[in-house]
Amino acid sequence: MASVPKQRVSVIGGGGNVGAATAFSLIAKGVPAEVLVVDVVDKAAEGQALDISDAAFMMPGICRKGTFKEAGQSDVIIVTAGARQQPNEPRSALIDRNYKIIKSIMDSLQPIKQTAKILMVSNPVDVLTDIAQKTSGLPRNQVIGSGTYLDSGRLRNALSEITGVSPTSIHAYMLGEHGDNQFTGWSSARIGGRPLLEHPKMKEIDLDKIYEQIQRKAYVIIEAKGSTYYGIGICAATIAEALLNNTNQVFPIVNYVEKFGCYLSWPAAIGCDGVEQSFDVKLDSEECKKLDSAINAIKEVCSKYN
Ligand SMILES: NC(=O)c1ccc[n+]([C@@H]2O[C@H](COP(=O)([O-])OP(=O)(O)OC[C@H]3O[C@@H](n4cnc5c(N)ncnc54)[C@H](O)[C@@H]3O)[C@@H](O)[C@H]2O)c1
Repeated sequence: MASVPKQRVSVIGGGGNVGAATAFSLIAKGVPAEVLVVDVVDKAAEGQALDISDAAFMMPGICRKGTFKEAGQSDVIIVTAGARQQPNEPRSALIDRNYKIIKSIMDSLQPIKQTAKILMVSNPVDVLTDIAQKTSGLPRNQVIGSGTYLDSGRLRNALSEITGVSPTSIHAYMLGEHGDNQFTGWSSARIGGRPLLEHPKMKEIDLDKIYEQIQRKAYVIIEAKGSTYYGIGICAATIAEALLNNTNQVFPIVNYVEKFGCYLSWPAAIGCDGVEQSFDVKLDSEECKKLDSAINAIKEVCSKYN
């Protein structure tokens, strides 16, 4: 039998769609970790872990069902547990249901390894990251959320179709809240070292229309098939990989930004200590107003749950 990898990643809520897609993505990306699938529904965790372990036979990672106590001793703890959106339901409407779930999960994980990093995925992810940090007792730099990384990927795909340039060569972020108060950082977007909006193919483009398309995409998928999971699964696995391998890759993810006094989606370099660096993004006056709206919306909800 192959030896157990030294690093451990646990996926809480791994019996569900997003958790299983995340655990599968970790294995399929070749992350050399022990991936534990944990869920309040034991049978769901067992089924997903057994299925994913079949995919692991040719990969460096391994996958098995785990307990909450084992998860508390992981290097990275990914939380995907909780209620998901119903068709046309905003993410913010999930807060009452998911608040209690996240609090009880943080209790069940105790004692949490002091060097562990928590990656929140459950929605509303900005507010739940704040709650997870307070209830886990870990420092702010070690508790982050997937935030607008997925939305930024959707944006980069759309911009790639317009410009004909690979999405990995387009530096453009959705920022603020992972929800109705997110906004596009058009003035900071770059392609080949030039402002994105100066690209010839961007001249005739209706920017509001692209924003709408990105903003609505989750709703369209949920309407068609009930939930979204492949995109977020690969995003969560990629962030976990940065945490384990100390890559210092920059992601637009939920992190605590001192000058705003709250958690929100903002670019940060992610490494083995969690948030290694936060960045100042250049915004124009319209974008500054949208940022203020996102900060106010997040702070207002957080104040009710603290
Ligand atoms: N951040 C993002 O970009 C993003 C994208 C998609 C979905 N999501 C969110 O991910 C969450 C999960 O969505 P899903 O589609 O996988 O839902 P799902 O219903 O398929 O799975 C949720 C899982 O959580 C488990 N669970 C519930 N309470 C638990 C507890 N106390 N401890 C452990 N496990 C528990 C359930 O048993 C279930 O297996 C939702 O909040 C959804 O909104 C976030």
